Amino acid sequence: MSDAFVCPSCKAPLAAWSCPACGERYPLLFDQTPLLLRGPARHVAREILQFSTPIRRSRQKIAALDQLKRRQPRRAPRLDRIQRAFEQRIALWSAWREALSTQCTLCALFNAADEGPPAAQNYGWERALDYARRDFGEEQVCVREREAIGEACAAAIGRPERLLVLGAGTGRGADDLGSACGQVCAVEKAIAMVMLRHLLTSRPLSFPVVQTRNHVTDAEQTCDVHLPRHHPPANVTFVVADAGHLPWPSADFDAVLSCYFTDVVGLSRLLPEVTRVLAVGGRFAHVGPLGYQFDNYADRYSAEGMVQELGELGFALLDKSSFTSSHLYEPLSLSHSQFENWFTSSRNRCHDNGRGAPHDAATEGSHRRHRRAEEGPRAFRSRRPLTETAGGAPA
Ligand SMILES: C[S@@+](CC[C@H](N)C(=O)[O-])C[C@H]1O[C@@H](n2cnc3c(N)ncnc32)[C@H](O)[C@@H]1O
Repeated sequence: MSDAFVCPSCKAPLAAWSCPACGERYPLLFDQTPLLLRGPARHVAREILQFSTPIRRSRQKIAALDQLKRRQPRRAPRLDRIQRAFEQRIALWSAWREALSTQCTLCALFNAADEGPPAAQNYGWERALDYARRDFGEEQVCVREREAIGEACAAAIGRPERLLVLGAGTGRGADDLGSACGQVCAVEKAIAMVMLRHLLTSRPLSFPVVQTRNHVTDAEQTCDVHLPRHHPPANVTFVVADAGHLPWPSADFDAVLSCYFTDVVGLSRLLPEVTRVLAVGGRFAHVGPLGYQFDNYADRYSAEGMVQELGELGFALLDKSSFTSSHLYEPLSLSHSQFENWFTSSRNRCHDNGRGAPHDAATEGSHRRHRRAEEGPRAFRSRRPLTETAGGAPA
């Protein structure tokens, strides 16, 4: 790995995955993915404990299904099928938990257990499987959703030499941008996402899905998802880190992308680090949000409000637009959501943090391509009619 990382805590350059200044050691998860988070051992231990939640939930569902079968034997064949899917999911999670346990000491695990149950996590194992299906699935609706988001991200970033992707999820979006950039670095905090990426880059993966709402046939209420092995491009570096404490030196990137992320980690927490790692003249590309997941109203910006805030913080608006997409489209469901998302790119005019950005003719060209002369300065335009979903179904 060629990147020159810094300690996420004290920002001193790392040597052999250790910080000479504060003494912290950072492991390589599965000998592959650097874990550059403050308190790395505690983070892994707490994520291992997170496995208990979906396993416990699924066991409760299996017990409830047992009772139902006793009360309604006529429905047993259908309930059996659902029960089997939950059992298979438990078996998978148990195997993954065992694999992850080799990356953690018993002592760290006990310490994490002593801290009490982990807070409810948005991006645990159940959600990570939904993302894996969307990101690596070959079902047409998944491909279309990826394409709609990928197009917006590509338009927003231009053609940077070094791109940083925040809250990268499974990293599939970052991989798809590899061909437009010299080097892509992706940062993700949830080990569930990281582990699915690790599994899929080593072999194909299958898992059962249970969807009992809004389906046409009984058989569709449980299905097996088969994902092919994924081969990420060589110029993408994937790192477990917190976007609020980035492990790169100042002014290291000429573009930073936030896709569906400012609704998870608010702009006020993100921007100090974004401005630090972005070279002067570099781009902050923003896609989303989907729907705010935090209660801090100060960070719940409207599309216009976010542009205004970025302007006040020293970012000059280059482009703004909108596009229509589904989110985690359930291929067999009869019910779908549609999102009208905006994307913007802004140039960082903040304090000179040492590097400055080289003049980027390709970036300027891309910017001009995506700007339309007839637009008013504050208008967001739509790339797709609102009546059409990414899956092609009526809204
Ligand atoms: C809504 S998902 C979007 C994932 C991806 N950008 C996409 O569009 O598919 C938000 C992601 O941010 C990750 N995340 C949450 N807090 C984070 C943090 N502090 N640092 C880095 N990633 C974080 C979550 O684990 C999750 O994968």
